[in-house]
Amino acid sequence: MKTVITYGTFDLFHIGHVRLLKRLKKLGGRLVVGISSDEFNKVKGKSSFYSYEERAEIVLSSKYVDEVFPENNWKQKRKDILKYKADIFSIGDDWIGKFDELKDICEVIYLPRTEDISTTEIKSKLSKINFNDLDKVERSLHDAIEILKTIAIK
Ligand code: CTP
Repeated sequence: MKTVITYGTFDLFHIGHVRLLKRLKKLGGRLVVGISSDEFNKVKGKSSFYSYEERAEIVLSSKYVDEVFPENNWKQKRKDILKYKADIFSIGDDWIGKFDELKDICEVIYLPRTEDISTTEIKSKLSKINFNDLDKVERSLHDAIEILKTIAIK
């Protein structure tokens, strides 16, 4: 059995994350995941909806994941690979070429991303929802239920 190591923020856990973790698990058999801490996200220019603790708990609950640990900086990967005895470092191909320097201690594999989904896109779609429209839908549904109730009573 080989150990695979990967890293990411994994905020608003979505189908792209699930498919990546599934393929990573198949690559080796044991999967360890470095989850970006809230402080490190700031360094990366990201701000997550869920805290590090929540994201770590969510990712660890996946049947494809064996262990999680915090990712606190860009430089720790080499140490982590040795600590977890990782045979393979793998990550989505949005990072292609960025971690080739690790090839002297393990195999480095970039996997194709699932198309048309990302945490950024989900956040953008959610921010466009017009809650005034939702209010109108709620009122219409409420009126319809009241009408149905009077019919049922008759
Ligand atoms: N990933 C993927 N397919 C997607 C989205 C993400 O395979 N559609 C992979 C990334 O390549 C990375 C891991 O999931 O290896 C964690 O990515 P993360 O940055 O947490 O997810 P994104 O949805 O890309 O988040 P953001 O929009 O904030 O960059």
